[in-house]
Amino acid sequence: MLTAIGRAGVLGINRRNGDFVMRYNKRSLYPLVDDKLITKKLAQENGIPVPQLFGSLDTPRDIPSLNDLVAQQQSFVVKPSHGSGGDGIVVIDSHRGRRFWTCGGSVLLWAELAHHLENTLGGQYSLGGHPDRVMVEYRVKFDPMFNPVSYLGVPDIRIIVFLGFPVMAMLRLPTRRSGGKANLHQGAVGAGIDIAYGKTVHGVIGNNNTDEHPDTGAAIGGLEVPYWQQMLSIAARCYEMTGLGYLGVDLVLDEHLGPLMLELNARPGLNIQIANAAGLLPRLEYVQQHAEPALLPEDRVAWIQSLVNDRTAGWQSG
Ligand SMILES: Nc1ncnc2c1ncn2[C@@H]1O[C@H](COP(=O)(O)OP(=O)(O)O)[C@@H](O)[C@H]1O
Ligand SMILES: [Mg+2]
Repeated sequence: MLTAIGRAGVLGINRRNGDFVMRYNKRSLYPLVDDKLITKKLAQENGIPVPQLFGSLDTPRDIPSLNDLVAQQQSFVVKPSHGSGGDGIVVIDSHRGRRFWTCGGSVLLWAELAHHLENTLGGQYSLGGHPDRVMVEYRVKFDPMFNPVSYLGVPDIRIIVFLGFPVMAMLRLPTRRSGGKANLHQGAVGAGIDIAYGKTVHGVIGNNNTDEHPDTGAAIGGLEVPYWQQMLSIAARCYEMTGLGYLGVDLVLDEHLGPLMLELNARPGLNIQIANAAGLLPRLEYVQQHAEPALLPEDRVAWIQSLVNDRTAGWQSG
């Protein structure tokens, strides 16, 4: 499947876990990224832009207070603080009285939404089924620039950051098959991104290359992700913010607010390599061997960008 990239440079799951996750991510730091409420607070303290938190629900007694939290908001999102894979997230487009319209166009009655919140607090969507908290947050208004290459859902940008250096990136585009989710396993398009310039290179669905979006027919390659410099800078700063050496940073682009950090992952997936037709190992090893550890975030970004442009540096660009 990865022969086109050359197996030597491809990072596999055992090596990722042994040589990178376990070595560079202290277990005691995991709660910083596994609990989205903690991540958001940390981000706010560190000046990293995130979707605004309207409030949280900690126990079933808090559920009625949702109405006060969103009284001034037309749209909002409820999300399990320990959730993953999009499970348990409800995006509300508008609400009136005891009716809540979801983005998919269906209507939820208050009793149904309250029931969902109760289940979420009970741990239905949290790892190990532990009791959870519910975040109530600003609903991101996705930048329309991605409309031609998205079907019904939310594109996001993943950047792998190693020791604070952004080393690989991809754009995930929802499709009809992926049910509007930007999850590659569900059939979303993954498009590799040139890390220096923020331009998409080409796309994959599963393990197959694709030049166009399967539903809209629009070209996948050659898209310029706006605010790329800002996205790289946010991603790089997440290293100081968490202390995690091997990190996946997920960003979305809001139409009015620009790039926002959505979540962080201490065990980021490996299929970003397929999307980029490039292995992670040469880049990770290059950083291990040549990077200056004391650089500031902006300087780390600039260093990576200069490497991509320097063919003699031995850096493998996507
Ligand atoms: N504030 C938000 N506004 C709009 N959509 C959101 C928001 N938060 C999450 N989503 C949608 O849910 C998906 C998963 O959210 P995320 O915070 O990454 O949680 P998970 O850990 O479950 O992946 C996002 O990719 C996006 O499609
Ligand atoms: Mg996510």
